[in-house]
Amino acid sequence: MFFKLSVNHSKLLKSKDIQQYFEGLKKLKIITYEKIDSTNTEAKRILDKKCINNAMLIADKQTTGRGRLGRSFYSPLGTGIYMTIIYNLKSAPDENVLFTAKTAVAVALAVEKVTGNKPEIKWVNDLYISGKKVCGILTELHTDKKNKMQHLIIGIGINVYTSDFPEEINATATSLGENESIKPKLIAQITENVFKLLGEKYDSFCLNEYRKNCFILGKEIEYIKNGTKYYATAKDIDDSYGLIAVSHDGTIDTLRSGEISIRIKKEEAF
Ligand code: BTN
Repeated sequence: MFFKLSVNHSKLLKSKDIQQYFEGLKKLKIITYEKIDSTNTEAKRILDKKCINNAMLIADKQTTGRGRLGRSFYSPLGTGIYMTIIYNLKSAPDENVLFTAKTAVAVALAVEKVTGNKPEIKWVNDLYISGKKVCGILTELHTDKKNKMQHLIIGIGINVYTSDFPEEINATATSLGENESIKPKLIAQITENVFKLLGEKYDSFCLNEYRKNCFILGKEIEYIKNGTKYYATAKDIDDSYGLIAVSHDGTIDTLRSGEISIRIKKEEAF
């Protein structure tokens, strides 16, 4: 059950509210917006103009929040967290999926620490609570051709107490069911976790956490590859966060990107 709270404008997010919870990131640049089209798009605009180091952008509302695969991300005023971390890469990444998956672990652990409720992970990077999506992650790569610098633009959207979802996602989306007051602490914890876990030192920790919390393993799934629909069992996550899918004729396929859905058995459907 969620409470519909009216947003008090004096409560709009301020950097100092978040900074007070930082432990290791005291110097991180935080940029806040009351309203923006998309914090990921804004991060790209900032990086196009100047070369900056690490930073975090946070908005109270997004007018055109973006999701994966060209979808939109519902971002109404105040009821969610819409944040983007600009992460300066030391070397070119082999695959974005690794960072995206590690971010999913970082967010899940932060939510658990701050709210006591740990979301599960749906490959690649959606977080679910009670079978419904509560958080989406959109990771993009930015290359500055002049300075040859590369940054990751890591966008994280969380429904904190959103209750009035648009019809098309109403059956599949949910919120943390927390209130306004947890937002600064949760944002700070997520940011700390992302900067910590993206480092190589935590590679095996992240992989273990990811496997432990990926709720699709063992489930019947379907996915589309090169225009063809496949049915398979989600068997395992490989060391590069690829999803190992075994189809009914025994063919093994390792998925590196894209999206899967869980097949609902006839008797479960109503
Ligand atoms: C998805 O569910 O497919 C990913 C959603 C990512 C949403 C976040 S909200 C902050 C950042 N800005 C955006 O426009 N998108 C990401």
